[in-house]
Amino acid sequence: MTESVFSTEGSIAPFQQIVQLCETYNALPVIDDSHGLGVLGKSGRGILEEQEIEGFLGIYTASLGKALANSGGMISGKKGLIDYLKYYCPQLVYSTALTPAVLAGTEAVLEIIQSEFEVIKSRLVSYQQAIYESLVEGGFTVVPGEAPINSIQSGSKDATFILAKKLYEKGILSTPFIEPSVPVDEGRVRLIAGANLSWETVAEATKIIKGIGR
Ligand SMILES: Cc1ncc(COP(=O)(O)O)c(C=O)c1O
Repeated sequence: MTESVFSTEGSIAPFQQIVQLCETYNALPVIDDSHGLGVLGKSGRGILEEQEIEGFLGIYTASLGKALANSGGMISGKKGLIDYLKYYCPQLVYSTALTPAVLAGTEAVLEIIQSEFEVIKSRLVSYQQAIYESLVEGGFTVVPGEAPINSIQSGSKDATFILAKKLYEKGILSTPFIEPSVPVDEGRVRLIAGANLSWETVAEATKIIKGIGR
């Protein structure tokens, strides 16, 4: 059972190998592709497309609240499993169902991904690269990642919050991670430039980042 993209540093699970191991040992692979769906793969279909896993027979789950820009989640697997969840999954049985607005919103985003993924993805990658370069120029230590995420090694809890606050004061929203999300004194400050941003915004951010770094 694994995530596809680990969102703190942008590392990606070797899921193809995990699926092969599951076949060898007769185990059921479970993937949470919340951060892969709409980001990974040639057409944004997520980890299975990215790692060319065909005929996947495990359990696939993802949030609708990340690249799909809505709320709620989805799960797919064998019919018997889905039938079971309909009766035994408390979040499904005792919570309000996804609203029509969320479903329509999700459908609209899926259509955008289908028709514009190439452009969106290349924007994501170039923004990440520009921010990475400004961080390195500013003297920050950036954790190498494979997903369009930049994660700064910020050290202690105090240093992590101070850096996130400095960025925030200049108009940049980052995500600080402290324990227990990361080991003690191995804080991270994560920056993600969404494809919805403009080049002007990203260019301004890179200037601010270099200034704070210096
Ligand atoms: C890997 C992963 N799965 C699931 C979730 C939960 O998503 P949601 O907030 O839409 O329930 C998160 C939230 O950050 C996540 O990072």
